[in-house]
Amino acid sequence: MKVTILAIESSCDETSASVISNGKILNNIVATQSVHEKYGGVVPELASRAHQQHLIPVIHEAMISSGIDKKELSAVAFTKGPGLMGSLMVGVSFAKSFAFMLDIPLIEVNHMQAHILSHFIDDPKPNFPFICMTVSGGHTQLVLVRDHLDMEVIGETTDDAVGEAFDKTAKLLGLPYPGGPFLDKYAQEGNPLAYSFPVADMPGLKFSFSGIKTSILYFLRDNLKKNPDFVEQNLADICASVQYTLIKTLLLKLKKAAKEHNIKEIAIAGGVSANSGLRKELGLTAEKLGWNVYIPKLEYCTDNAAMIAMAAHYKFLKSEFCGMDVVPDARMKI
Ligand code: KG4
Ligand code: ZN
Repeated sequence: MKVTILAIESSCDETSASVISNGKILNNIVATQSVHEKYGGVVPELASRAHQQHLIPVIHEAMISSGIDKKELSAVAFTKGPGLMGSLMVGVSFAKSFAFMLDIPLIEVNHMQAHILSHFIDDPKPNFPFICMTVSGGHTQLVLVRDHLDMEVIGETTDDAVGEAFDKTAKLLGLPYPGGPFLDKYAQEGNPLAYSFPVADMPGLKFSFSGIKTSILYFLRDNLKKNPDFVEQNLADICASVQYTLIKTLLLKLKKAAKEHNIKEIAIAGGVSANSGLRKELGLTAEKLGWNVYIPKLEYCTDNAAMIAMAAHYKFLKSEFCGMDVVPDARMKI
Protein backbone atom coordinates (compact mmCIF):
# COMPACT_ATOMS: atom_id res chain seq x y z
CA MET A 1 0.00 0.00 0.00
CA LYS A 2 1.25 3.49 -0.82
CA VAL A 3 1.22 5.87 2.17
CA THR A 4 1.14 9.53 1.13
CA ILE A 5 0.66 12.30 3.69
CA LEU A 6 0.32 16.09 3.45
CA ALA A 7 1.88 17.76 6.52
CA ILE A 8 1.43 21.32 7.74
CA GLU A 9 3.60 23.32 10.16
CA SER A 10 2.35 26.63 11.58
CA SER A 11 3.57 26.74 15.19
CA CYS A 12 5.51 30.01 15.09
CA ASP A 13 6.52 32.26 12.20
CA GLU A 14 7.12 29.82 9.33
CA THR A 15 4.20 28.58 7.25
CA SER A 16 5.24 25.26 5.74
CA ALA A 17 3.81 22.26 3.87
CA SER A 18 5.41 19.00 2.82
CA VAL A 19 4.31 15.83 1.07
CA ILE A 20 5.79 12.48 2.09
CA SER A 21 5.28 9.26 0.15
CA ASN A 22 6.25 5.88 1.63
CA GLY A 23 8.65 7.59 4.03
CA LYS A 24 10.34 9.70 1.35
CA ILE A 25 10.05 13.49 1.57
CA LEU A 26 8.96 14.84 -1.83
CA ASN A 27 9.21 18.55 -0.99
CA ASN A 28 9.40 21.09 1.82
CA ILE A 29 7.80 24.45 0.99
CA VAL A 30 8.45 27.20 3.55
CA ALA A 31 7.12 30.78 3.62
CA THR A 32 9.04 32.89 6.12
CA GLN A 33 7.20 35.82 7.70
CA SER A 34 9.22 39.00 7.30
CA VAL A 35 6.53 41.12 9.01
CA HIS A 36 8.18 40.56 12.44
CA GLU A 37 11.60 41.99 11.54
CA LYS A 38 10.74 45.58 12.34
CA TYR A 39 9.43 44.59 15.80
CA GLY A 40 12.58 42.67 16.77
CA GLY A 41 10.58 39.54 17.66
CA VAL A 42 7.56 37.46 16.65
CA VAL A 43 4.26 39.32 17.16
CA PRO A 44 1.68 36.52 17.74
CA GLU A 45 -1.30 38.36 16.24
CA LEU A 46 0.64 39.20 13.07
CA ALA A 47 1.95 35.62 12.85
CA SER A 48 -1.62 34.22 12.82
CA ARG A 49 -2.66 36.62 10.09
CA ALA A 50 0.40 35.81 7.98
CA HIS A 51 -0.35 32.08 8.33
CA GLN A 52 -3.89 32.73 7.07
CA GLN A 53 -2.42 34.51 4.07
CA HIS A 54 0.38 32.02 3.26
CA LEU A 55 -1.13 28.65 4.10
CA ILE A 56 -3.15 27.87 0.95
CA PRO A 57 -0.46 29.08 -1.52
CA VAL A 58 2.16 27.02 0.35
CA ILE A 59 -0.05 23.89 0.35
CA HIS A 60 -0.95 24.44 -3.29
CA GLU A 61 2.73 24.58 -4.22
CA ALA A 62 3.49 21.45 -2.17
CA MET A 63 0.68 19.49 -3.86
CA ILE A 64 1.55 20.66 -7.39
CA SER A 65 5.28 20.03 -7.07
CA SER A 66 4.71 16.57 -5.57
CA GLY A 67 2.78 15.52 -8.69
CA ILE A 68 0.23 13.89 -6.39
CA ASP A 69 -3.50 14.46 -6.66
CA LYS A 70 -5.25 15.26 -3.39
CA LYS A 71 -7.49 12.21 -3.88
CA GLU A 72 -4.36 10.03 -3.53
CA LEU A 73 -3.58 11.34 -0.01
CA SER A 74 -3.72 8.75 2.80
CA ALA A 75 -3.81 11.30 5.67
CA VAL A 76 -3.35 14.94 6.66
CA ALA A 77 -0.92 15.87 9.46
CA PHE A 78 -0.48 19.08 11.42
CA THR A 79 1.51 20.53 14.34
CA LYS A 80 -0.63 20.33 17.48
CA GLY A 81 1.94 22.11 19.69
CA PRO A 82 3.95 23.47 21.35
CA GLY A 83 3.76 26.92 19.78
CA LEU A 84 1.71 30.09 19.54
CA MET A 85 -2.00 29.34 20.01
CA GLY A 86 -3.24 31.61 17.20
CA SER A 87 -0.64 30.27 14.77
CA LEU A 88 -1.41 26.64 15.62
CA MET A 89 -5.17 27.29 15.18
CA VAL A 90 -4.68 28.20 11.53
CA GLY A 91 -2.90 24.91 10.70
CA VAL A 92 -5.22 22.74 12.78
CA SER A 93 -8.39 24.24 11.29
CA PHE A 94 -7.16 23.76 7.75
CA ALA A 95 -5.99 20.18 8.40
CA LYS A 96 -9.35 19.23 9.92
CA SER A 97 -11.36 20.68 7.05
CA PHE A 98 -9.14 19.06 4.43
CA ALA A 99 -9.23 15.63 6.11
CA PHE A 100 -13.00 15.94 6.55
CA MET A 101 -13.50 16.85 2.90
CA LEU A 102 -11.30 13.98 1.65
CA ASP A 103 -12.61 11.57 4.31
CA ILE A 104 -9.10 10.53 5.35
CA PRO A 105 -7.43 10.24 8.80
CA LEU A 106 -5.99 13.19 10.68
CA ILE A 107 -2.59 12.98 12.44
CA GLU A 108 -1.48 15.32 15.24
CA VAL A 109 2.26 15.89 15.61
CA ASN A 110 4.33 17.21 18.51
CA HIS A 111 6.67 19.89 17.09
CA MET A 112 9.54 18.93 19.44
CA GLN A 113 9.30 15.24 18.54
CA ALA A 114 9.28 16.27 14.89
CA HIS A 115 12.51 18.30 15.26
CA ILE A 116 14.16 15.08 16.47
CA LEU A 117 12.62 12.96 13.70
CA SER A 118 14.12 15.31 11.10
CA HIS A 119 17.12 12.96 11.48
CA PHE A 120 15.16 10.25 9.69
CA ILE A 121 14.63 12.26 6.51
CA ASP A 122 18.08 11.50 5.06
CA ASP A 123 20.98 9.12 5.71
CA PRO A 124 22.90 8.61 7.93
CA LYS A 125 20.21 7.99 10.51
CA PRO A 126 21.02 7.67 14.23
CA ASN A 127 20.79 4.24 15.87
CA PHE A 128 18.52 3.73 18.90
CA PRO A 129 18.92 4.62 21.67
CA PHE A 130 20.38 8.05 21.00
CA ILE A 131 20.45 11.39 22.79
CA CYS A 132 19.16 14.44 20.97
CA MET A 133 19.84 17.96 22.18
CA THR A 134 17.01 20.08 20.79
CA VAL A 135 17.98 23.74 20.74
CA SER A 136 15.55 26.32 19.37
CA GLY A 137 14.05 29.73 20.04
CA GLY A 138 11.59 28.27 22.54
CA HIS A 139 13.29 25.12 23.86
CA THR A 140 16.52 23.63 25.13
CA GLN A 141 16.06 19.94 25.82
CA LEU A 142 18.07 16.76 26.18
CA VAL A 143 15.93 13.88 24.96
CA LEU A 144 16.59 10.16 25.29
CA VAL A 145 15.21 8.64 22.08
CA ARG A 146 14.43 4.92 22.41
CA ASP A 147 12.39 4.62 19.24
CA HIS A 148 10.74 6.88 16.65
CA LEU A 149 7.81 7.59 18.93
CA ASP A 150 9.31 6.64 22.30
CA MET A 151 11.13 9.66 23.75
CA GLU A 152 11.89 10.95 27.26
CA VAL A 153 13.05 14.44 28.22
CA ILE A 154 16.05 13.94 30.55
CA GLY A 155 17.16 17.56 30.78
CA GLU A 156 15.63 20.96 30.12
CA THR A 157 16.14 24.69 30.64
CA THR A 158 14.74 26.17 33.82
CA ASP A 159 14.34 29.62 32.26
CA ASP A 160 15.25 30.96 28.78
CA ALA A 161 15.93 28.80 25.73
CA VAL A 162 19.40 29.03 24.21
CA GLY A 163 17.94 30.50 21.00
CA GLU A 164 16.42 33.26 23.11
CA ALA A 165 19.86 33.95 24.63
CA PHE A 166 21.28 34.25 21.09
CA ASP A 167 18.41 36.49 19.93
CA LYS A 168 18.33 38.74 23.00
CA THR A 169 22.10 39.27 22.93
CA ALA A 170 21.91 40.07 19.23
CA LYS A 171 19.17 42.60 19.98
CA LEU A 172 21.35 44.28 22.64
CA LEU A 173 24.11 44.49 20.02
CA GLY A 174 21.73 46.16 17.57
CA LEU A 175 21.65 43.22 15.13
CA PRO A 176 18.49 42.48 13.08
CA TYR A 177 15.90 39.87 14.08
CA PRO A 178 16.22 36.90 14.36
CA GLY A 179 19.68 37.59 15.72
CA GLY A 180 21.08 34.05 16.09
CA PRO A 181 22.36 33.71 12.51
CA PHE A 182 23.86 37.27 12.59
CA LEU A 183 25.63 36.62 15.88
CA ASP A 184 26.97 33.40 14.35
CA LYS A 185 28.23 35.28 11.28
CA TYR A 186 30.15 37.95 13.26
CA ALA A 187 31.44 35.35 15.75
CA GLN A 188 33.32 33.62 12.93
CA GLU A 189 35.67 36.62 12.65
CA GLY A 190 36.18 37.22 16.39
CA ASN A 191 38.25 35.92 19.28
CA PRO A 192 36.12 33.62 21.49
CA LEU A 193 38.41 34.24 24.47
CA ALA A 194 38.35 38.06 24.24
CA TYR A 195 35.77 38.39 27.04
CA SER A 196 34.54 35.91 29.59
CA PHE A 197 30.96 35.30 30.68
CA PRO A 198 29.69 32.85 33.31
CA VAL A 199 28.87 29.25 32.33
CA ALA A 200 25.83 28.20 34.37
CA ASP A 201 26.28 24.74 35.86
CA MET A 202 22.85 23.85 37.19
CA PRO A 203 22.15 20.60 39.09
CA GLY A 204 21.85 17.42 37.02
CA LEU A 205 20.94 17.92 33.39
CA LYS A 206 19.22 21.28 33.87
CA PHE A 207 20.20 24.33 31.81
CA SER A 208 19.90 28.02 32.65
CA PHE A 209 20.45 30.94 30.27
CA SER A 210 19.01 33.88 32.17
CA GLY A 211 22.24 34.55 34.13
CA ILE A 212 24.41 34.96 31.05
CA LYS A 213 21.82 37.25 29.50
CA THR A 214 21.98 39.54 32.55
CA SER A 215 25.77 39.46 32.67
CA ILE A 216 25.95 40.48 28.99
CA LEU A 217 23.55 43.34 29.70
CA TYR A 218 25.78 44.68 32.54
CA PHE A 219 28.96 44.04 30.55
CA LEU A 220 27.65 46.16 27.67
CA ARG A 221 26.27 48.87 29.94
CA ASP A 222 29.61 49.25 31.78
CA ASN A 223 31.72 49.27 28.62
CA LEU A 224 29.41 51.62 26.71
CA LYS A 225 29.69 54.08 29.61
CA LYS A 226 33.47 54.19 29.09
CA ASN A 227 33.36 54.05 25.29
CA PRO A 228 30.16 54.77 23.33
CA ASP A 229 31.65 52.99 20.28
CA PHE A 230 32.53 49.85 22.26
CA VAL A 231 30.06 47.58 20.41
CA GLU A 232 30.97 48.78 16.91
CA GLN A 233 34.67 48.49 17.61
CA ASN A 234 34.49 45.02 19.18
CA LEU A 235 31.43 43.41 17.60
CA ALA A 236 33.15 40.27 16.30
CA ASP A 237 34.97 39.60 19.60
CA ILE A 238 31.78 40.13 21.65
CA CYS A 239 29.79 37.79 19.38
CA ALA A 240 32.55 35.15 19.42
CA SER A 241 32.84 35.30 23.23
CA VAL A 242 29.07 35.06 23.81
CA GLN A 243 28.73 32.21 21.33
CA TYR A 244 31.67 30.38 22.92
CA THR A 245 30.01 30.62 26.36
CA LEU A 246 26.60 29.45 25.12
CA ILE A 247 28.14 26.47 23.30
CA LYS A 248 30.24 25.59 26.34
CA THR A 249 27.08 25.60 28.50
CA LEU A 250 25.29 23.30 26.03
CA LEU A 251 28.18 20.86 25.66
CA LEU A 252 28.74 20.62 29.40
CA LYS A 253 25.30 19.04 29.86
CA LEU A 254 25.35 17.06 26.63
CA LYS A 255 28.59 15.37 27.72
CA LYS A 256 27.12 14.69 31.15
CA ALA A 257 23.96 13.14 29.65
CA ALA A 258 26.00 10.95 27.27
CA LYS A 259 28.17 9.72 30.15
CA GLU A 260 25.27 9.07 32.54
CA HIS A 261 23.34 7.09 29.95
CA ASN A 262 26.43 5.51 28.39
CA ILE A 263 25.35 6.55 24.91
CA LYS A 264 27.65 7.54 22.05
CA GLU A 265 24.97 8.17 19.41
CA ILE A 266 24.44 11.94 19.68
CA ALA A 267 22.17 14.19 17.64
CA ILE A 268 21.26 17.87 17.67
CA ALA A 269 18.11 19.47 16.27
CA GLY A 270 16.21 22.78 16.19
CA GLY A 271 17.09 26.24 14.89
CA VAL A 272 20.27 26.69 16.93
CA SER A 273 21.71 23.46 15.47
CA ALA A 274 22.37 25.61 12.39
CA ASN A 275 25.04 27.43 14.43
CA SER A 276 28.47 26.98 12.83
CA GLY A 277 30.33 27.13 16.15
CA LEU A 278 28.12 24.45 17.71
CA ARG A 279 28.51 22.19 14.69
CA LYS A 280 32.30 22.57 14.78
CA GLU A 281 32.63 22.08 18.54
CA LEU A 282 30.38 19.02 18.42
CA GLY A 283 32.60 17.50 15.73
CA LEU A 284 35.71 18.06 17.88
CA THR A 285 34.03 16.60 20.99
CA ALA A 286 32.88 13.59 18.96
CA GLU A 287 36.47 12.88 17.87
CA LYS A 288 37.69 13.09 21.46
CA LEU A 289 34.94 10.97 23.01
CA GLY A 290 34.26 8.54 20.16
CA TRP A 291 30.69 9.78 19.55
CA ASN A 292 28.78 9.31 16.32
CA VAL A 293 27.29 12.75 15.74
CA TYR A 294 24.17 13.53 13.66
CA ILE A 295 23.41 17.08 12.52
CA PRO A 296 20.40 17.85 10.29
CA LYS A 297 20.73 19.59 6.93
CA LEU A 298 20.32 23.36 7.33
CA GLU A 299 16.82 23.39 5.78
CA TYR A 300 15.66 20.87 8.41
CA CYS A 301 17.20 22.71 11.40
CA THR A 302 14.72 25.60 11.49
CA ASP A 303 10.95 25.09 11.46
CA ASN A 304 9.71 23.10 8.46
CA ALA A 305 6.89 20.74 7.52
CA ALA A 306 9.18 17.94 6.27
CA MET A 307 9.91 17.00 9.90
CA ILE A 308 6.16 17.03 10.65
CA ALA A 309 5.63 14.75 7.65
CA MET A 310 8.36 12.37 8.87
CA ALA A 311 6.76 12.14 12.32
CA ALA A 312 3.33 11.65 10.70
CA HIS A 313 4.68 8.76 8.61
CA TYR A 314 5.71 6.82 11.74
CA LYS A 315 2.38 7.62 13.40
CA PHE A 316 0.48 6.43 10.32
CA LEU A 317 2.32 3.08 10.44
CA LYS A 318 1.07 2.68 14.02
CA SER A 319 -2.45 3.92 13.14
CA GLU A 320 -2.05 6.80 15.61
CA PHE A 321 -4.80 9.06 14.35
CA CYS A 322 -6.71 11.78 16.20
CA GLY A 323 -10.35 12.77 16.35
CA MET A 324 -11.99 15.67 14.57
CA ASP A 325 -12.52 17.36 17.95
CA VAL A 326 -8.75 17.86 18.41
CA VAL A 327 -7.57 21.32 19.53
CA PRO A 328 -4.05 22.82 19.58
CA ASP A 329 -1.93 22.48 22.71
CA ALA A 330 0.37 25.52 23.01
CA ARG A 331 2.36 23.86 25.82
CA MET A 332 2.39 20.30 24.49
CA LYS A 333 5.05 18.08 26.10
CA ILE A 334 7.05 15.24 24.55
O1 KG4 B 1 13.54 25.79 15.62
P1 KG4 B 1 13.35 27.23 15.26
O2 KG4 B 1 13.33 27.59 13.80
O3 KG4 B 1 12.05 27.81 15.88
C1 KG4 B 1 11.61 27.49 17.14
O4 KG4 B 1 10.90 26.46 17.26
O5 KG4 B 1 11.98 28.25 18.07
O6 KG4 B 1 14.53 28.04 15.99
C2 KG4 B 1 14.69 29.42 15.85
C3 KG4 B 1 15.90 29.84 16.67
C4 KG4 B 1 16.03 31.37 16.77
O7 KG4 B 1 16.32 31.69 18.13
C5 KG4 B 1 17.24 31.66 15.87
O8 KG4 B 1 17.96 32.82 16.23
C6 KG4 B 1 18.07 30.43 16.10
O9 KG4 B 1 17.12 29.38 16.09
N1 KG4 B 1 19.09 30.24 15.05
C7 KG4 B 1 20.42 30.32 15.31
C8 KG4 B 1 21.07 30.12 14.06
N2 KG4 B 1 20.12 29.92 13.10
C9 KG4 B 1 18.90 29.99 13.74
N3 KG4 B 1 21.08 30.56 16.45
C10 KG4 B 1 22.42 30.58 16.39
N4 KG4 B 1 23.12 30.42 15.24
C11 KG4 B 1 22.50 30.18 14.06
N5 KG4 B 1 23.21 30.01 12.94
ZN1 ZN C 1 10.99 24.62 16.13
